[in-house]
Amino acid sequence: MAKADKKRKKSFLTDVQTLRKRARAHIERGAVTEGYSADRETVLKILNEALATEIICVLRYKRHHYMATGLNAQSVAAEFLQHANEEQGHADQIAARIVQLGGEPNFSPEGLATRAHAEYVEGDGLVDMIKEDLVAERIAIDSYREMIAYCGNDDPTTRRMLEGILAMEEEHAEDLVSLLEELGAH
Ligand SMILES: [Fe+2]
Ligand SMILES: [Fe+2]
Repeated sequence: MAKADKKRKKSFLTDVQTLRKRARAHIERGAVTEGYSADRETVLKILNEALATEIICVLRYKRHHYMATGLNAQSVAAEFLQHANEEQGHADQIAARIVQLGGEPNFSPEGLATRAHAEYVEGDGLVDMIKEDLVAERIAIDSYREMIAYCGNDDPTTRRMLEGILAMEEEHAEDLVSLLEELGAH
């Protein structure tokens, strides 16, 4: 083993005594330990922005679900509803993580649209609604990707949660493109 490798291996883990001592200090911080190396305030801020984004997406998909009319409307409306429910699930996951990190989830309707990355656009007709949803998904995809990169190895739990959400937003975008294709409108 090269000398440098040996040194790295040796300093890999904190010794047990220190680990135990650190865990006993500030137990009121719960899951947030001394080893938490991310900037907690920033993580909480971006998670609250993501929460606002998800709530806006729930509202938009709900509006679209109830407003979908005309030929092909039934299957499209069902897809809108499924997406609305999945965005609600994301909002719940994010809110729970915010609390776990010692923060407070911001559910205030005041400034909600400003905090969110995606927009609430009602859309005019089925195709227009699908296109607006697709735009919103694409915004979410890019912002989640950035958040994931930001968390890196400093907050692997938040990162993994965001990776799961990102994968579903990508599925949503794919679903919407398929709907546009079925309607011959892309
Ligand atoms: Fe979502
Ligand atoms: Fe989505």
